[in-house]
Amino acid sequence: MAVLLPGGAGYIGSHTAIELLEAGKDIVIIDDYSNSKPEVLEEIKKITGKTFKSYEMDYRDREKLEKVFEENDIEAVINFAGFKAVGESVAKPLAYYDNNIGGAVIMLETMKKYGVKKFIFSSSATVYGDPEVIPITEECKTGGTTNPYGTTKLFIEQILKDLYTSDNSWDICILRYFNPVGAHESGRIGEEPQGIPNNLMPYIVRVAAGQLEQLSVFGNDYNTPDGTGVRDYIHVVDLAKGHVLALEKLEKEQQGLYIYNLGTGTGYSVLDMVKTFKKATGQKVPYKIAPRRPGDIAACYADPKKAKEELGWEATKTLEDMCRDSWNYIKNRKGE
Ligand code: UD1
Repeated sequence: MAVLLPGGAGYIGSHTAIELLEAGKDIVIIDDYSNSKPEVLEEIKKITGKTFKSYEMDYRDREKLEKVFEENDIEAVINFAGFKAVGESVAKPLAYYDNNIGGAVIMLETMKKYGVKKFIFSSSATVYGDPEVIPITEECKTGGTTNPYGTTKLFIEQILKDLYTSDNSWDICILRYFNPVGAHESGRIGEEPQGIPNNLMPYIVRVAAGQLEQLSVFGNDYNTPDGTGVRDYIHVVDLAKGHVLALEKLEKEQQGLYIYNLGTGTGYSVLDMVKTFKKATGQKVPYKIAPRRPGDIAACYADPKKAKEELGWEATKTLEDMCRDSWNYIKNRKGE
């Protein structure tokens, strides 16, 4: 029995692939390498000393997807395939709805056809919009997403709820990620956004590496301790381990639809991040205060209690670990 990972060569998919292999699971990766590289698969094999099958394909290609289900004994699907650039989603909403939502529907239809009913979905804290209360629990109201990317996450969650209502023999887990950062401690895989990064950590590492001049801190007049935006940064390896535990829950339990926040429960500001980066890596990150970024919220962090109680999952890595590992990865890449 194998776990199918669409988008398994990407940032979160590749780290999860490692944790699954290290937990003794078999995996099959499909990826079109539109936002990743095939070499990542070799790195996963080197890190784990294990091998697995992979297919280069668009996950929306029904014919090829059916072949994957025919050729492999798939037990569950963890869906990492999808576009994730917020700004791009505003410019190209149809591409986002087509790829993310259309792709999820095709995947679920194919799973149904082959009698595979365990599905883990990569959702995001973005589904909470501007949260009513923090820390955010899974019961908090969702909606009010500020961009098409976020809306695709919200809609797919609804599709999964409707699917489960129609047929409760599905086994579904929705994981709401907070802000994934960091890289594998080997320094062999990590996050590699194309072009100028939008997210904070990738931007910081590029400033530290001298590839970008300085960080713009988007707003210092928020209602937060130092005025800059507060987020719940979570190490990608901790996040990856959450998927293994979610899969094990689906394997053990009666069928159900489960939703978990995956965050540390601690919020850090943009300036906390700049300071911790210096402490962890010795690298200074020059910055200037810039206007607020449209669509940003002041603060967002998780109440991760439910994942701890029901999955036995808890984030263990610190902000310093996240900074150090992100930097190590970029340093290694530069040395190539
Ligand atoms: C963003 C997306 C979210 C997505 C997540 C992926 C929005 C509104 N939200 O979250 O949907 O799931 O990325 O990780 O875009 N910052 C700076 N300077 C920068 C970059 C960021 O000051 O150059 C600040 C931001 O204002 C924010 C914090 O750093 O306070 C984190 O930003 P970012 O890493 O982009 O994540 P989110 O905005 O939380």
